[in-house]
Amino acid sequence: MNNNSFFVTTPIYYVNDSPHIGHAYTSIACDVIARFNRLNGKKTMFLTGTDEHGLKIEQAAKKKNMDTKKFVDQMSLDFKKLTKILNLSNDFFVRTTETYHKKASQHIWKILKKNNEIYLDKYKGWYSISDEAYFNDDEITTDEKTKKKIAPSGNEVQWVEEESYFFKLSKWQDKLLDFYKKNPNFIGPDSRRNEVISFVKNGLNDLSISRTTFSWGVEVPDDKKHVMYVWLDALINYLSAIGYPDKKYKKFWPADVHIVGKDIIRFHAIYWPAFLLAAGIEPPKRIFAHGWWTNEGKKISKSLGNVIDPNEIIKEYGLDTLRFFLLREVPFGNDGDFSKNSLQRRINNDLANDLGNLVQRVLTIVDKNLDGKLNKIKKIRKNDKKIYDYPKEILKKIEINYEKQEFHKVIETIWKLISEANKYVDENAPWQLLKDDKERAGDVLNILVLIIAKIAIFLAPIMPNISENILNKIGLSIKKLSMKDISGDNFLNIDYKIEKPEIIFQKIE
Ligand code: MSP
Repeated sequence: MNNNSFFVTTPIYYVNDSPHIGHAYTSIACDVIARFNRLNGKKTMFLTGTDEHGLKIEQAAKKKNMDTKKFVDQMSLDFKKLTKILNLSNDFFVRTTETYHKKASQHIWKILKKNNEIYLDKYKGWYSISDEAYFNDDEITTDEKTKKKIAPSGNEVQWVEEESYFFKLSKWQDKLLDFYKKNPNFIGPDSRRNEVISFVKNGLNDLSISRTTFSWGVEVPDDKKHVMYVWLDALINYLSAIGYPDKKYKKFWPADVHIVGKDIIRFHAIYWPAFLLAAGIEPPKRIFAHGWWTNEGKKISKSLGNVIDPNEIIKEYGLDTLRFFLLREVPFGNDGDFSKNSLQRRINNDLANDLGNLVQRVLTIVDKNLDGKLNKIKKIRKNDKKIYDYPKEILKKIEINYEKQEFHKVIETIWKLISEANKYVDENAPWQLLKDDKERAGDVLNILVLIIAKIAIFLAPIMPNISENILNKIGLSIKKLSMKDISGDNFLNIDYKIEKPEIIFQKIE
């Protein structure tokens, strides 16, 4: 693996349903990570896509009276559209019904078979179609009213008895525990890591990895009666999408981080490394599980009719605002509540008051009084030092925050810079200086424009459009900038005539 490469993935989304805020959340987080790494000089691969096999999908197609392939083609398009709507910078969109993916899955199956990691037996136990997951007896409860058997996820389970291939998961228990120990950053946040470790310590059963009672899946090599368990096929997307089994996959493998929701951590942190170790492939470097959103305090569910459509929020409040809100409001890893009140509060305070105000007032003064022209900074005084050096000082910290997926801390740190810049404006009162000492006024304003440019570079991964908009106002574009420019100042185009900006963030009453 090339040291200068970076590979980040979203889970691949089930196509039984339309995209909602949960999907948007994971995707936006990954996009921010990808954009940051690109700006930071890494050859970056950002992967997303759709998970199109399994009983759940087959049933969803039947319900609509559609041919399954036609159904998945149509639904997958909705998720592809979402990548555009969210302005995702994904480099590829993987679909598990594509031939390259099926081939990669079968290739892994054959290796597992050859390595004696698979055997044929009979599965007897509980299965939840909604979760596409098997459950042990002791995990199942009975709903008092309906008498239905329920998985810990709250979804109904059914009793399954059929011939099935098994993966020898039980034999990997100690090796997995050893792997977690040797790779303390493998699972984040720490609470999830502990949860996974204690689950594994409790013992692992061999895992059923094929089904015979339906056919919508990847055919098991040399046994046409069976299709692969959808999770085995799904996880392999992370390899098939980068060219596996061709050696070229090594350009990006092992993945730097798989971002997933907390509901699917076990598949990624237990099954996935076990499959890979058993096939002789290096596991990914990190799995990070984020929390779940509720809507105005209530669990989001189709039956409650309170599913949040990202399109509607974007239409009402704007895309970059939504991107900012989702990552600012809740520490990544925690659960969060989506409410229009808190979204509006963020827009009014963080965006309009702090960021909007800074950009607006500085650029307006330059436009009005200096005819939009900047000069080279003549002299950095002692009391300029703090703000002048601030961006460089926080860069390392922000890099570390990104490594740990601590987006809220990244944003907090950028906002400290914004607040320092606003303080600098107040303390130096450039409108007054323009009357008393024009040269000094020029320096103060030049420093401020430089700081605004750097704030825009810091914001580019999170709010790409707003950032570009600000940069354009000062004759710059992110296309020609990188995180390296945070430490310098010769990227400013002093021949550029600064324009008075239109209002960037409108306050909401
Ligand atoms: N197909 C599997 C993933 C396979 S990856 C090899 C899957 N798909 S999903 O469409 O059901 O879910 C995708 C992601 O959306 C999950 O990470 C899940 O946690 C996330 N979310 C779904 N609802 C959510 C919220 N209400 N809040 C935040 N994220 C949520 O699982």
